[in-house]
Amino acid sequence: GHNNLNAKLVLLGDMGAGKSSLVLRFVKGQFLEFQESTIGAAFFSQTLAVNDATVKFEIWDTAGQERYHSLAPMYYRGAAAAIIVYDITSTDSFSRAKKWVQELQKQGNPNMVMALAGNKADLEDKRKVTAEEARVYAEENGLFFMETSAKSAANVNEIFYEIAKRLPRA
Ligand code: GTP
Ligand code: MG
Repeated sequence: GHNNLNAKLVLLGDMGAGKSSLVLRFVKGQFLEFQESTIGAAFFSQTLAVNDATVKFEIWDTAGQERYHSLAPMYYRGAAAAIIVYDITSTDSFSRAKKWVQELQKQGNPNMVMALAGNKADLEDKRKVTAEEARVYAEENGLFFMETSAKSAANVNEIFYEIAKRLPRA
């Protein structure tokens, strides 16, 4: 019907930040302590009801290892939304997230809905990136920001729901 929307969504971010774990939590409600590193990319789909509409996310979970970087444009090209993921216990992963934001600002769809996910929020005692620092960065760059935990499920459905609400309606 006219209230159904398909939305291509891509996850980008450093290896080990938790992209696959966020998708596995969102799509299957599961978490693996020993999630395997993604090779190339993996595809998933999941439908969400938002107000009077149904959004079917077509999700590309990309590989964070540097050797796969050149494949990324295939996945973010034409994407309606992106989740850029970093690990709150790693300043390197936060730097890598900023690089992804820059690349999307240059090469991505200008109307793309972009979310910044500070993942592994359950590891508060190992935190290296403050929520305040990330919030300021996100605000300055037109992203919305949430800290998530694929392990505890905190804010995982919420971040997809917030994206769905922000997608332009036809
Ligand atoms: P690549 O596929 O290599 O790019 O990595 P990725 O971003 O997909 O990371 P992945 O989901 O494979 O997670 C890496 C490791 O972090 C795994 O051992 C996960 O169990 C762990 N992990 C992911 N999310 C969380 C989280 O929210 N909390 C904690 N404590 N561990 C997490
Ligand atoms: Mg992965």
